[in-house]
Amino acid sequence: MQAVILAGGQGTRLRPLTLSRAKSVVPLLNRPFLAYQLALLREHGVGDVILSCSYRVDDVRRTLGDGTSAGVRLRYVVEAEPLGTGGGVRNAADLAAGPVFVLNGDVLTDVDLAAMRRFHEKHGSRTTIFLMRVDDPRPYGLVEMDDEGRLRGFREKPTTAEEITTDTVNAGVYLIDGELLRRIPSDRAVSIEREFFPALIADGIPCFGWCVPAYWRDIGSPGAYRAAQIDLLEGRVRTGLHPPGDRRGESWIEAGGSAATDARVEAPSVVGPGVELHAGCHVGPLSVIGEHSRIGARARVERAVLWERVDVGEGAMLRDCVVGADVRIGAHAEIGANVVLESGAVIPERTRLRS
Ligand code: GDD
Ligand code: MG
Repeated sequence: MQAVILAGGQGTRLRPLTLSRAKSVVPLLNRPFLAYQLALLREHGVGDVILSCSYRVDDVRRTLGDGTSAGVRLRYVVEAEPLGTGGGVRNAADLAAGPVFVLNGDVLTDVDLAAMRRFHEKHGSRTTIFLMRVDDPRPYGLVEMDDEGRLRGFREKPTTAEEITTDTVNAGVYLIDGELLRRIPSDRAVSIEREFFPALIADGIPCFGWCVPAYWRDIGSPGAYRAAQIDLLEGRVRTGLHPPGDRRGESWIEAGGSAATDARVEAPSVVGPGVELHAGCHVGPLSVIGEHSRIGARARVERAVLWERVDVGEGAMLRDCVVGADVRIGAHAEIGANVVLESGAVIPERTRLRS
């Protein structure tokens, strides 16, 4: 069984984190995001995966390689110019045959893909869309169905109140018959949401929505990116992929680091390899420390996500924030809720940052 993952977006809403790394490989609990999707695919018998890339493809290749470490075969198709979500799938069509899963490369979910396939076959569906009910459907694709679950309408990101006719939205996971992919024009940018799905519905091709309870979150904004890691730490996502390292209670600590005797890691938290925890510092709860970071004496890191090689000065205070790689935070600085620091940023001593 095959899957195409759309991993070519620029991750605009996740800036500045995505200025230095493709959204599809930003770390979640110190693992690249796509590792979670690959684990889900593998768990459901999908071992042949095509990554549809464009922006910062080298990040993705360097991180995931040929997929061996994730237990799948990974191939890459690369757009010179972004071709949109439909064009990105079209680009992979020559490598795909039979029904193929298509995933937006930024949704963290534990949905049962094998059950989705059974639904697809039982209903004679040619395109099945996994749907979620949400409180605010505006940032999503709205999907209308008849009583049997057959698709009747698809409206991407409604702009007026009248257009909000349902709370059922596209969750960004599709099962599509391979031959249908050849309907997508190959010579221009195409939106799968604005063109392909509405055209299938207009042409009367049997397409179904499949709405089941599952964990689901689009990680494409800084708030959602941090919330997804809190969900993982609190065990809300059913995944076989544990954080790397040794488990100590509800925390995971990787080897090669050092900790002063009175340094404290409060669970649940994840500490990467080679991390230095200095005297009296306090990490956690709900914190993730990237490899080779250094937490200075008496510093406090709470509900925060730090990428690799972050240097936190003595007595600094980090709460509810995200810190990119190689950031230096001066002594006694305070980084507050919802702040996102770009990789390489230098924050002087005693600076106070709030969003
Ligand atoms: N290859 C390729 N080329 N991939 C792309 C391109 C492109 O030009 N543009 C976007 N992508 C990828 C992104 O990297 C992401 O993984 C996926 O396509 C979806 O793009 P987003 O930019 O994240 O879309 P969205 O979150 O606003 O909306 C989409 O997802 C929602 C669910 O999270 C839509 O599919 C909505 O209908 C849906 O509700
Ligand atoms: Mg998205």
